Amino acid sequence: MTTVTPPTAADLAQTPGADPERPSSYYQPGEHHAPQNEIHRLRQQVAASWNKELRVLREFGLTESSDVLEVGSGPGYITERLLQEVPQGTLTCLELNEDLIEHARGHLTPARPDQLRLVQGSVLDSGLPDDSFDLVHARLVLQHVPGTPDVLAEAHRMLRPGGRLAVIDVDDALWGLLHPQPDLPEFDEVVRLRIELQAGRGGNRLIGRELGGLMRDAGFTDIKVEAVAISSEEVGMDVLAPQLDIRSRTHAMVSVNPAAERPCEIVADAMDEFVARPDASMMLVFFMFSGTKPGGDAR
Ligand SMILES: C[S@@+](CC[C@H](N)C(=O)[O-])C[C@H]1O[C@@H](n2cnc3c(N)ncnc32)[C@H](O)[C@@H]1O
Repeated sequence: MTTVTPPTAADLAQTPGADPERPSSYYQPGEHHAPQNEIHRLRQQVAASWNKELRVLREFGLTESSDVLEVGSGPGYITERLLQEVPQGTLTCLELNEDLIEHARGHLTPARPDQLRLVQGSVLDSGLPDDSFDLVHARLVLQHVPGTPDVLAEAHRMLRPGGRLAVIDVDDALWGLLHPQPDLPEFDEVVRLRIELQAGRGGNRLIGRELGGLMRDAGFTDIKVEAVAISSEEVGMDVLAPQLDIRSRTHAMVSVNPAAERPCEIVADAMDEFVARPDASMMLVFFMFSGTKPGGDAR
């Protein structure tokens, strides 16, 4: 487990690649050098953890008739699962990246024409109406959006009174565990470089520790948190291995910080060796938060 402290404002001022105009630290169309790898990684991640996430989402208020807003729906693999869960409800997807919207459109099959709506735009400026959803779901999105309080304010605005916000995100101090842990100083270095890359683009890979307080400050009540752990012993190393794909991310890290090349190469080789070991185990950890918009009984 890596011990990570948040970068200070002074650290971030030094971060290469910082661009205050970016709407998201996630890749934009044409930016990722291997978008198919990223789509595969997200698909496998959903396959690994959906059953656990669904149990928690039901506790957080998801029902068969919920009107759900999925923020940052990406290539649509959570969308695919959520569609099955709201046979009498609706699902609206709000996604910034038009290529990912088109990818999702290509494989999603809603049960009714009015069950699914795909909207291209930013959660910071969506134009979606007030008080219109029972559940707003944001999975691995808030870490990418500059201005988490603004996103939470928008979620609060769009929820019906009594509706719930469900957020799934990470904190890189508790990203997961490898066994046997490779004895490599470069590993911690790559974790730190990834935090810095994302922070320089306005994101925050240490957001897990802040989420509960930020939700409280945005006016949500009845705040709950669950940790979701996924082990390669449960789902198979082949399903979790894409999460260790350093090579797809090296390009972005090196483009803003050439000094990242060597540690990324060393760690990528070590991860290839790790996943090939018959005795290797790996665990990933996500945090699921929910909070209620007070003043009503929407479910
Ligand atoms: C790591 S992906 C997660 C995709 C999906 N939620 C999942 O769990 O598979 C993050 C997604 O959030 C989207 N995103 C980032 N910033 C956004 C914003 N400001 N508004 C809407 N979507 C955004 C990205 O384009 C990307 O599709």
